[in-house]
Amino acid sequence: ARVAVLISGTGTNMAALLYAAKAESCPYEIVLVASNNPDAAGLALAAAEGIATWSLSHKGMNRDAFDALVDDQLRAVGADYVALAGYMRILSSDFVAKWQDRMLNIHPSLLPLYKGLDTHRKAIEAGDRHGGCSVHVVTADLDDGPVLAQTPVAILPGDTPDSLAARVLIAEHQLYPPTLAAYVTRERSAGWLLGRVRDLAL
Ligand code: GRF
Repeated sequence: ARVAVLISGTGTNMAALLYAAKAESCPYEIVLVASNNPDAAGLALAAAEGIATWSLSHKGMNRDAFDALVDDQLRAVGADYVALAGYMRILSSDFVAKWQDRMLNIHPSLLPLYKGLDTHRKAIEAGDRHGGCSVHVVTADLDDGPVLAQTPVAILPGDTPDSLAARVLIAEHQLYPPTLAAYVTRERSAGWLLGRVRDLAL
C-alpha cells in the first residue's frame, strides 16, 4: 500500500514509519512526506532517503483551500493511505471525508483521555499512573476516531511533561509502524472478515 505521511515538525514518527518500510515484509511504502511547515526537519530526512516531499506554509490560507492543495499532492503520488505524524493542523471536514477509513493518526495519550494538546502535563497533574500513546482512525472530530492500538507508559515520580514525552515517543515509534501495517492489510485479516460476517448477520 502507498502511504503519504503528513508532518509539521521533527518527524520522528515519520522516520519510524520510513525505516520500518525498508523491511522486505512491510506491506506499505512511504511515497510522499508533506508538511504545512517548509522548515520541518523531517522533510530533509525524507529527501535524503529518496522520498518525494512537498511543503507549503498554511499561513494566511483558507483551511479548505490548503487541504485541497494537500489532497492534490496525495492524488498525484497515488497515495492509498495517509498517516498523520506530528501534523499539528486540524483538518477540514471535506479532507477527512475524502480519506474516510484511509487516514490514521498517532496521539500522545491513552485515548479517549486527553484529546488535544498538552497531554503529558494533564496526565501528570491528574496523578495518573500511566501516560501513553494511541493510534486511531481519523474522523471529523479531533482525536476522536476508533482506537486501533495503544501503549501505556508508566509515569515516574518527578516526571515532567518533557521527561514523560520522551518515553512516550519511544512507545509511539514502536506502535505506529506495526499498527499501520496491520491496518493496510486488514481486509486480509480474519478479524476483519469476521467483523464483516457479523455486520451481515445482524
Ligand atoms: C509526538 O508526540 C506525536 O504524538 C505528536 O507530535 C509529537 C511529535 O512527533 N502527534 P514527531 O517527532 O514530529 O513525529
